[in-house]
Amino acid sequence: MQTTIAAAKSTANTADFLPLQGTDYVEFYVGNAKQAAHYYMSAFGFQALAYAGPETGVKDKVSYVVRQHKLTFMLTTPLRGGNALADHVYKHGDGVKTLALRVDDARNAWQETTTRGAVSCQEPLTLHDEDGEIVLSGIETYGETVHLFVERKNYNGAFMPGFRAWHNPYYAPNSTGLQYVDHCVGNVGWNQMNKWVNFYEEVMGFRNILSFDDTDISTEYSALMSKVMSNGNGFVKFPINEPAEGKRKSQVEEYLDYYDGEGCQHVALATNDIVSTVTDLRNRGVDFLQVPTTYYDDLLERVGAIDEDLEPLKDLGILVDRDDEGYLLQLFTKPVQDRPTLFFEIIQRKGAKSFGKGNFKALFEAIEREQEARGNL
Ligand code: FE2
Repeated sequence: MQTTIAAAKSTANTADFLPLQGTDYVEFYVGNAKQAAHYYMSAFGFQALAYAGPETGVKDKVSYVVRQHKLTFMLTTPLRGGNALADHVYKHGDGVKTLALRVDDARNAWQETTTRGAVSCQEPLTLHDEDGEIVLSGIETYGETVHLFVERKNYNGAFMPGFRAWHNPYYAPNSTGLQYVDHCVGNVGWNQMNKWVNFYEEVMGFRNILSFDDTDISTEYSALMSKVMSNGNGFVKFPINEPAEGKRKSQVEEYLDYYDGEGCQHVALATNDIVSTVTDLRNRGVDFLQVPTTYYDDLLERVGAIDEDLEPLKDLGILVDRDDEGYLLQLFTKPVQDRPTLFFEIIQRKGAKSFGKGNFKALFEAIEREQEARGNL
């Protein structure tokens, strides 16, 4: 096994030039934002929060914002063709466009990153309304994905200037217990992983905290490599995946084919009670990857004693892994759009800070069964 935990680098001793307070929101470009918003509300338990569109003075697109605890999703769709947003949806299908990060000073975040080589996609911009002001700035990352820096310390409104409150008094789905973004994974092209590792290190001051090579993450057929990047306080973690040579097509390669480029592979959503959350999600129609029930035969021998009963984990298909600091429970949805691209991970951490390496083989075999059913293995 070639897994390595990086030694603390010199950056640990120097001031963090890009202090991040966590994920502010995730924006998805989708083909039909109205229906996508309803899906995240009905299936995942988000609540309606804010809306922007022609009624608020935005002529070419609409955005619906939904929220659950500290998780905020924005669903955006173009109203016409022949523009960058419409081209994005046509080329990539539904997917993550913006991983917005909360900062104390968006001008400074833009200055620090662009002077280190980041490509700007949004110069610092101040937005005002009666609830105060928000400063936004942004830089490009892999594929057509962007990071937006959001400074909201002088803002008291629900979301952002330009949006109006949105709620339906007749429809307020219950939360499924999802709490916050644990990590977001990017799929990049052949030989591109180290380029993006360097980007996160040099431009954003992140550290490489874990690495997996293709001897860790391979099955009989397909393989990938992964490096986990974390910001200084650990609030923001971005694993980066690259395909590796195997007997058959890597799952990362299938993603790159169907997304038509690099992009966000999955967003991991944290819960404090995974049995309750996954029961709820399954009852609302969310589809999950299924590992064989034999996975559970020797689970407790592999991971040791856990607080949860084994039966509900087995019924729901929840996976468990342990590291030096504790254990974690996790499960992956099937892709949430017709293209085999973006999916979600549901994760509950009980001390473990890792990513479920012990489950990779069982999971990737489950992914390959799905790939094979699509004729892409
Ligand atoms: Fe993950």
